[in-house]
Amino acid sequence: MIRRTAPPNLMVVFGASGDLAKRKLLPALFHLHQQQLLHEGFVVLGYARTRMTDEEFRQQIREALLEHLAEEQSAPFDEGLWGNFSKRLFYQTGGYDDHSSFEALAQRIAELDAKFPTKGNHIFYLATPPNVFESITTLLAEVGLANSPCGGWTRLIVEKPFGHDLESAQKLNDHLLKLFREEQVYRIDHYLGKETVQNILVFRFGNGIFEPIWNRNYVDHVQITVAESLGVGSRGGYYDKSGAIRDMVQNHMMQLVALTAMEPPVAYDAESVRNQKVNVLRSIRPIDPLEVNKWVVRAQYSRGMVGGREIPGYLETEGIPPDSTTETYVAWKLEIDNWRWNGVPFYIRTGKALPVKVTDINIMFRRPPLMYFNSRETRSQRVHNSLTLRIQPDESIILRFDAKRPGPQLDVEQVSMDFSYSRAFGDASISDAYERLLLDAMLGDSTLFIRRDETELAWDRVTNVLDGWAIQEELLRRRGKKLTLPQYPAGTWGPLEADDLLARDGHQWLESMLNEGR
Ligand code: BG6
Repeated sequence: MIRRTAPPNLMVVFGASGDLAKRKLLPALFHLHQQQLLHEGFVVLGYARTRMTDEEFRQQIREALLEHLAEEQSAPFDEGLWGNFSKRLFYQTGGYDDHSSFEALAQRIAELDAKFPTKGNHIFYLATPPNVFESITTLLAEVGLANSPCGGWTRLIVEKPFGHDLESAQKLNDHLLKLFREEQVYRIDHYLGKETVQNILVFRFGNGIFEPIWNRNYVDHVQITVAESLGVGSRGGYYDKSGAIRDMVQNHMMQLVALTAMEPPVAYDAESVRNQKVNVLRSIRPIDPLEVNKWVVRAQYSRGMVGGREIPGYLETEGIPPDSTTETYVAWKLEIDNWRWNGVPFYIRTGKALPVKVTDINIMFRRPPLMYFNSRETRSQRVHNSLTLRIQPDESIILRFDAKRPGPQLDVEQVSMDFSYSRAFGDASISDAYERLLLDAMLGDSTLFIRRDETELAWDRVTNVLDGWAIQEELLRRRGKKLTLPQYPAGTWGPLEADDLLARDGHQWLESMLNEGR
């Protein structure tokens, strides 16, 4: 096995005083350092408007790491390791839209390049709100940082949200690609860094037994659930402008659909894998905005109990306008018009304040042509054989099928075979998604990053839905009425409308199927 270690580089983190940098990026870098995967010529330069010295920045990161370790309940903090890591941390105060700040930044980078053996390799990580993506990149180019001055490489990592509809995503892409080449741009979707998401392709294409049945001849339908048990909490300001479809569906869920449905790539490399994902996204049948209700359900959570704790309703949450029509739940029936999947619906859903946090891809197989063993009511006529790829938590793969219950009668019961990551590889087997993605970006491997055409195709399909919703609101407004969304109590599996979406096709969400089976 070849050990993948990062080449030397200087990483500038814009938005370094923010939550993402503290909670995710710096802990991931520290962990890479701990595993000796970073080069001695690796340096971080945090950049943000908050005034701070290098020492204060280090202190802030140290506290964030201690908090992180406490949450993870992992090994005690290693002071020696931290001492070594903190020597590579620097901070620069500056604005996001003034030229002089960026001249000072270029100067600072030149100094660090001289002091450390970075080889002039630079990564610029945009971990800021998206409204400053354009000004930051323009200024980087203006001060000559779009290409490395001393023969190294320059890469740009762009955080989500990447646009808020098709037009804004295209505009951002046009802008970035005037200043950088596509190979320099790493659009991040942290779901792709999850071990279990990468395992979708290994499971499908690294084994001979599943792929032959992974198609319309054997699969009845597919259900993908990304459930979150938390409400929007203190992120209301951001969330209310976004909603579930922009926050989760356009990016994470479309990626899960693409990986589940794609054809085998010609090779496991960035272009081949992404070409196949693009083909899936292109095959998703665009919906007619006027028919949005036929395909998509949206809702908001109301007050309720999740895991024994009361959660206020979305409209009661601080920072949310009491008449907000932002959805916290979406269910969508997708049709994929290609040779493999024609006629196999993909039902996807995501929501906040659901009973548990879980991400599952459920492949629901066709029933046998004749049912002999339906002695226990008609249960086995409803319950499909299913294969669940559990992305998180309790990362696992579960195959469910019928077996004869021991006893004199012919009673059939659904049983399961499962593979658990922690049982097979130990508890510490799953590392954080950002670790993998940061390492890949340093290595110049963009397989797990989103290409321009992927982001635009996903936005195209989502924008049809957004257009449909806008038309509905407008029609109501003209009639002097206001839109109110269906509500679901926090701690339940979403609105009844989402059950109806499947019931119309004679299906049920898997958890209700399993519960009834008991
Ligand atoms: C983020 C969304 O992209 O993904 C959040 O903005 C969401 O709203 C999060 O909670 C979910 O990520 P994970 O890794 O916890 O499933």
